[in-house]
Amino acid sequence: MKDRIEDIIKKVSQFSADNQSEIEKFRIQFLGKKGIIPELFKEFKNLPPAEKKVTGILLNELKKLVQDKVDLSKKKLADKRKFSINLDLTLPASQIIIGSRHPISMVRREIIDIFSKLGFTISQGPEIEDDWHVFSALNFPPEHPARDMQDTFFISKDPDILLRTHTSSVQVRVMETTSPPIRTISPGRVFRNEVISARSHCIFHQIEGLYVDENVSFADLKQTLEFFAKEYFGEETKIRLRPSFFPFTEPSGEMDVSCSCKGRGCKLCKYTGWLEVLGCGMVDPNVLSECNIDPSKYTGFAFGLGIERIALLKYHINDIRLYFENDVRFLNQFTGII
Ligand code: PHE
Repeated sequence: MKDRIEDIIKKVSQFSADNQSEIEKFRIQFLGKKGIIPELFKEFKNLPPAEKKVTGILLNELKKLVQDKVDLSKKKLADKRKFSINLDLTLPASQIIIGSRHPISMVRREIIDIFSKLGFTISQGPEIEDDWHVFSALNFPPEHPARDMQDTFFISKDPDILLRTHTSSVQVRVMETTSPPIRTISPGRVFRNEVISARSHCIFHQIEGLYVDENVSFADLKQTLEFFAKEYFGEETKIRLRPSFFPFTEPSGEMDVSCSCKGRGCKLCKYTGWLEVLGCGMVDPNVLSECNIDPSKYTGFAFGLGIERIALLKYHINDIRLYFENDVRFLNQFTGII
């Protein structure tokens, strides 16, 4: 019996099969109820005890070998199925669609780059703010309409917690924690309780700039803004400053840039030849003192612009809502710009 088992082991070792039915046939032939191995075990029972030890070892070895063969052949078959997809390596590759930056991100980055050239650093602050940083420190009198429920999303009263309506709040935080010279811009999302229309939205993005040092003058402000306008809108761009009012700047101004229609008049500039771009002014001495900066030693200028508006002027976008709808037909138009 020992020799017979050794013979079978030799044969089984050579077994290989590459289809399901052959493997199954092999399994039944050896391991099935009436298969070779159960039959051998029956015979084994009747062996004289002296032979049992060696034959028993061999028999178990055979049984294990058959089981391993079955398992391995099944695995090989499964692997073959998994990797045998019909491959035609000569086919052209499928097109990879590359996403693009959102126009707001692109414009924000361009503006940041321009001010970085002038040495402005970037500062950020929280979107959920307190009354002090959004209004009080910025010289807003208690009865100022901007504090009104119509403009501001209040989260809680007493303490007054609200969604910031401008990123001037970040400038307050910077002035409170650093001493001049300060030269920083604060990009960020702001919120105002406005009716959503083609021209206004309750969420938009701003970049505000602040420069505080000894002897900072209105001429510095004008130079800085002119540099920005020429870099962003083109070398031939002209700027003009009109008097305006903000509680935190004195004097305050609004800057227009010349329209690309070159004074011929177009829909974009409403036939005026000028486009309103940003608000600016000299930091009110009260604001400096509130932020623990000595106004008799330091002066500063500040400006703030809406990124949506700047992007709208550059790309002639006629509806501010498009920025927030994420319609690929809109976004696709900016692929490859930067
Ligand atoms: N914070 C102003 C706004 O949101 C913009 C501004 C900033 C104006 C700095 C002047 C100086 O409209």
